[in-house]
Amino acid sequence: MAVKKKRAFQEIASKGLKTIILEHDSWMKPYMPKTVWYREDRLLAMLDTFGTVFVKPDKGGGGVGIIRVKKVADELVECKSLKHHKIVPKDKVIALIDTYLKPNKRYLIQQGIRLATINGRPFDIRLMLQRIDHKWELTGLAAKLAAPGKIVTNFCKGGKPYTAKDAVAKVFPNNVSKKMEELKKLAYRVAHVLSNRFKGLRELGIDAGLDINGNIWVFEVNTRPTYGMFRELKNLQMYNNIRRIRKLIV
Ligand SMILES: Nc1ncnc2c1ncn2[C@@H]1O[C@H](COP(=O)(O)OP(=O)(O)O)[C@@H](O)[C@H]1O
Ligand SMILES: [Mg+2]
Repeated sequence: MAVKKKRAFQEIASKGLKTIILEHDSWMKPYMPKTVWYREDRLLAMLDTFGTVFVKPDKGGGGVGIIRVKKVADELVECKSLKHHKIVPKDKVIALIDTYLKPNKRYLIQQGIRLATINGRPFDIRLMLQRIDHKWELTGLAAKLAAPGKIVTNFCKGGKPYTAKDAVAKVFPNNVSKKMEELKKLAYRVAHVLSNRFKGLRELGIDAGLDINGNIWVFEVNTRPTYGMFRELKNLQMYNNIRRIRKLIV
């Protein structure tokens, strides 16, 4: 007799593909920073439109290979990543970025979002969802503050976990419950849209940022999120719950 196997747990690595699917949903669209496949002419056009853009590998994580490209003066552009930091004239940007990109990887260009900060450190919010018996549950929610001077908030790059509600209260004290509700609603919408398309998803880790005006933006959605950051929060309830559920579903 054939043993019925659990359906394989599905992982979607391409940020580009997940972005296209989410942008297609009219409810999600306003939350998605403009994102295009990397091309040299598009980099300059996006830089002109947004002033700051993030170049990121289509497949990757941990903030690795991400470059923030920012106009700092009329003809000067700053390029900053975990490894590099340089300011060059505008007409030298493409050549410089070229030396940072790996020839065998695809890259995206994404509208740069000016994140809200706490003590000068930008932060964003990780929303963790797990699918239990076909029902998605938001089991984790926490802010992560970029390590001083860093352009990414990733936990593995020194990002500091922080209670989400406290972080939002620091920057938008009059809007805390409204923003928390919006974040939660958005998380369930992301889960709905992506799991309509990919049937084997079990967990999602959404990185969403609040800009300085309080608008919410989705940077990426991980389909195999780590959850070690939740262990650093004062309250371990989320961590323990996520761990227990992971054992059941993956
Ligand atoms: N468009 C953007 N604007 C501002 N900050 C961004 C943007 N994209 C990424 N970041 C910052 O970089 C971090 C890492 O980017 P992300 O897209 O999550 O890639 P990774 O898979 O490497 O984690 C984000 O959590 C956020 O702090
Ligand atoms: Mg991320």
